[in-house]
Amino acid sequence: MNAIQLSYPGGFDSLTSVDLPQPSAPQAHEIQVQLHASSLNYHDLLVAKYTTEAQNGRIPLSDGAGIVTAVGAGVSEFKVGDQVVSCFFPTWQTGPGLLADFSTVPGDGIDGYARQYVNASVNAFTLAPTGYNHTESATLTTAGLTAWVALVEDGKIKAGDSVLLLGTGGVSIIALQLAKSMGAQVIITTSSHDKAIRLKELGADHVIHYPSTPEWGNRVLELTQGRGADIVVEVGGPGTLAQSIRAARIGGHIALIGVLTGFSGDIPTRELMAKRVSLQGVLVGSRSQQQDMVRALNQQSWRPILDKTFALTELSKAFAYQESGQHFGKIAISI
Ligand SMILES: NC(=O)c1ccc[n+]([C@@H]2O[C@H](COP(=O)([O-])OP(=O)(O)OC[C@H]3O[C@@H](n4cnc5c(N)ncnc54)[C@H](OP(=O)(O)O)[C@@H]3O)[C@@H](O)[C@H]2O)c1
Repeated sequence: MNAIQLSYPGGFDSLTSVDLPQPSAPQAHEIQVQLHASSLNYHDLLVAKYTTEAQNGRIPLSDGAGIVTAVGAGVSEFKVGDQVVSCFFPTWQTGPGLLADFSTVPGDGIDGYARQYVNASVNAFTLAPTGYNHTESATLTTAGLTAWVALVEDGKIKAGDSVLLLGTGGVSIIALQLAKSMGAQVIITTSSHDKAIRLKELGADHVIHYPSTPEWGNRVLELTQGRGADIVVEVGGPGTLAQSIRAARIGGHIALIGVLTGFSGDIPTRELMAKRVSLQGVLVGSRSQQQDMVRALNQQSWRPILDKTFALTELSKAFAYQESGQHFGKIAISI
């Protein structure tokens, strides 16, 4: 089977296309999945660009979607022909979880889904939403579940809430679609005037051009008549958090998700405290949260927005495209 492997010390050109033996019959409590699609996340980009020595030879990509082609003994949850999507944390089934690192994550701590077949524990996949194609399903493992946890699980979104989203990457665009489908008002930032038009077409209520509005937190307050955003999906990190705190309503919720501007920095703690804003870290989510999300998506008609689709053999090109920041929503990989 075709697969891609990482090479230490990383870089998109160091990805290697290899021919690996196809896995034999799955063991007890395992399924065999023929993978048809993956999608790119910022996390996958960082792993490919800064591959560690321990990751030398590892198969990248955390997202995987495909069809069950065989089941091992004792498997009752899946049958041959089921359409499935991978879990970001195959060992985090439910509850608050005990993981604060990526050692168990496919495409980082263990082999991922840049390959044609995998034998995996039943706990490493869930059913995909009904009617989704494989590329749509693949967007759910990381970006979809993160948006779901930020808005629904932790943010407790309700109709009429104001939701602030940053930029037009994978997490933010799925969050836009989800928030609109749940009756929220969406305010979203972007660096691109062209993308602003597409955001409006997708139902965004207000779009802020962040390069020309560096104090965009105040603009969110204006747009919400001084109240502020109920929920902020914070994908920027240290370079954007101060504005997100400004934008949040008193008692609002900030889902701290991203590292697009770095890994540490100053936080205006006085403003955070005085506004009694809750700041909640998010690390994707558990398998049971993914099952909750799939049940919800089965009741909704929207589909994740796919930007370009690249073949598995074009993975280096796909990462370079992602790094250029031209994409809107998810970049898909067909396998
Ligand atoms: N903690 C978790 O569970 C979790 C899960 C998934 C992702 N993440 C993190 O969330 C972030 C987004 O991930 P992703 O996969 O959605 O990334 P992505 O698709 O690569 O997003 C890139 C987009 O982010 C926007 N952006 C870049 N810098 C920005 C800034 N300073 N302010 C506002 N927007 C900015 C740009 O949008 P415009 O072109 O519109 O300006 C850019 O196109 C990453 O840091 C990723 O590591 C965390």
